[in-house]
Amino acid sequence: MKFDKPATTNPIDQLKVVGKPTDRIDGPLKTTGTAPYAYERHDVASDQAYGYIVGSAIAKGRINAVDLAAAKAAPGVIEIVTWQNAGPLGKSKSHTAKLLAGPEIEHYDQAIAIVVAETFEQARAAARMVRIDYARAPGRFDLDAQIKSAPPVGEDSGEGSHSPPIARHGDFDGAFAAAPVKLDAVYRTPDQSHAMMEPHATIAAWEGDKLTLWTSNQMIAWGVRDLAQTLMIPKEKVRLVSPYIGGGFGSKLWVRADALMAALGARAAKRPVKVALARAQIMNNTTHRPATVQHIRLGATKDGKLTAIAHESWSGDLPGGGPETAPSQTKLIYAGANRLIATRLATLDLPEGNAMRAPGEAPGMMALEVAMDEMAEKLGMDPVAFRILNDTQVDPMKPERRYSMRNMTGCLKLGAEKFGWAKRNPKPGQMRDGNWLVGMGVAAGFRNNITTKSAARVRIDDKGGIVVETDMTDIGTGSYTIIAQTAAEVMGVPLDQVKVTLGDSSFPEAAGSGGQWGAANSTAGVYAACMKLREAVAAKLGFNSADAAFTGGRVTSGNRSATLADAAGSSAEDGIEYGDLGKTYQQSTFAGHFVEVGVDAWTGTVRVRRMLAVCAAGRIINPKSARSQVIGAMTMGVGAALMEHAVVDKRFGFFVNHDLAGYEVPVHADIPHQEVIFLDETDPIAGPLKAKGVGELGICGVGGAVANAIYNATGVRVRDYPITLDKLI
Ligand code: MOS
Repeated sequence: MKFDKPATTNPIDQLKVVGKPTDRIDGPLKTTGTAPYAYERHDVASDQAYGYIVGSAIAKGRINAVDLAAAKAAPGVIEIVTWQNAGPLGKSKSHTAKLLAGPEIEHYDQAIAIVVAETFEQARAAARMVRIDYARAPGRFDLDAQIKSAPPVGEDSGEGSHSPPIARHGDFDGAFAAAPVKLDAVYRTPDQSHAMMEPHATIAAWEGDKLTLWTSNQMIAWGVRDLAQTLMIPKEKVRLVSPYIGGGFGSKLWVRADALMAALGARAAKRPVKVALARAQIMNNTTHRPATVQHIRLGATKDGKLTAIAHESWSGDLPGGGPETAPSQTKLIYAGANRLIATRLATLDLPEGNAMRAPGEAPGMMALEVAMDEMAEKLGMDPVAFRILNDTQVDPMKPERRYSMRNMTGCLKLGAEKFGWAKRNPKPGQMRDGNWLVGMGVAAGFRNNITTKSAARVRIDDKGGIVVETDMTDIGTGSYTIIAQTAAEVMGVPLDQVKVTLGDSSFPEAAGSGGQWGAANSTAGVYAACMKLREAVAAKLGFNSADAAFTGGRVTSGNRSATLADAAGSSAEDGIEYGDLGKTYQQSTFAGHFVEVGVDAWTGTVRVRRMLAVCAAGRIINPKSARSQVIGAMTMGVGAALMEHAVVDKRFGFFVNHDLAGYEVPVHADIPHQEVIFLDETDPIAGPLKAKGVGELGICGVGGAVANAIYNATGVRVRDYPITLDKLI
């Protein structure tokens, strides 16, 4: 189905199932620990052996020699694969560094070998007997030291279009020089790690030249493509299965070493092989969010109109890698005639930097929204009013492009009202609750809505139920549930009459899970397939499809009526493809984030006291699962503001705190009270469901709101995240 004109009334607008706060269909499986994750698939591929990956002990250099003798002789060892016996391997564009290194080493803990043994313990023990002689080479591990040699690279989302290295609109320099009120500040965000619950894990099995991988992956079709390229076999020979995923947060957008090494280990051992990355391997073997240095300059008139906006960001990555696109939202979020946006990329020999939890906007808004707070203070304006004054309904750098729908002002206004913003004292350090200095902070939230094609297959089973098959993934987000809601709505059946099967590359290719594009696009694809199924059902029953009504498991046309079971076996496959609406309109999602903190006056300890997010993201398909997404994202925002910091050893080039003891994330006790409000809106430009993504919106801005609340509480402006207590005293 081509979506190239705004949606009008359609079966989704009947809203019997869609738009309702529905419990997660997979909830009981998840909460009872019975959802089978990749590593637990004992039911597939009998005679599974265990693989353990040996990672490089140096960050840069070369392997002189590998001595496998002791490891090979260790109990239970079946095979050891290194680059020397792996056979020829290609390299997919998705992977900056090779998934199997040797003899060159590109980063610390890069996979060098897999040891396959009868048990996990045997594989791990033998892996530690692999002797490697390295020639260490000097590496670049310090972003600050590499900044001067970092060229502007613009922005490349990986799949999307590439923006110019330095984007300009109007005359920033002139306007900034002439502005009566100015801010010029530098902000820093550290390297961060995804820290999802389920480690990367894969079971690989070969049947002749056909490879099946039960794995944990957000983007099934990308994984098939990249493994086929790396193994240099046809795509048709690779099957990926990933029905349950214990969180990804971007770390599983692309297959990692567990998948390739399991495949190589299985081929060599002639047995299925299962591999999980140990927690300590994840942080250095896989990807992370790169640290940023962000220089922001704002100029405004005395009455608070922005006239000059510059956002320049520096981050680093391995040779051939990409930047953290921290300034991306600054092109779009506020009005202002003169603008300069630059994204610069230094070369570093740290592990690969890549997408993590709203790449770009999450760290970008942590800088921009503090800059907006600082500017409001200089102007003597309320920070909510300052943002509203600089709202825009068009893309400021391409004013002919309107927003499909934009109500950021509504989010900020309603949020201020519900949060009790009027009680805030704009002068810092004035509110006290015992030993606690109390402050409130606000930030706007902004994240783009990406439309992407997505397909599904649907059929009527013998009992008149609906079966949906698509390679869409559910990374804990609620995909199963919203897809079932969509199919139930369009086919006119109760929710429990829909069976959704996901995450298998033998199903039609869906949007996958990433960039908050999963929900809106995958349900649009299911909508398209179901609309086609309605035609197939009508044809099978000999009904006129134009006036056939689907409701209560029945199809009615004129004075004729039948059950869906009468049309059992009817099936359809279709998907959504978007026309030019996305080019004509800017599509984004908006929020107002409000945070209250207490800061211990004696120790500098920060406690978040309450949080509110008001979100505008088109139709909310399932307010319950969407709320869960947003509160999870708000929690990540608190982590980014106060705790998360993957510390670089600048001598040896690795992340030191490579586990959940040293890499801190918020726990329940850190987050006492969160509230989420969705504005009641439908965006007919966004797609047939008039829905947009919302998950990552929940993180974008939160860190800035926390920082602003801390400033309001204490009068201390920290521009260097995370805001730990040592920075406050
Ligand atoms: Mo998200 S970081 O695009 O999985």
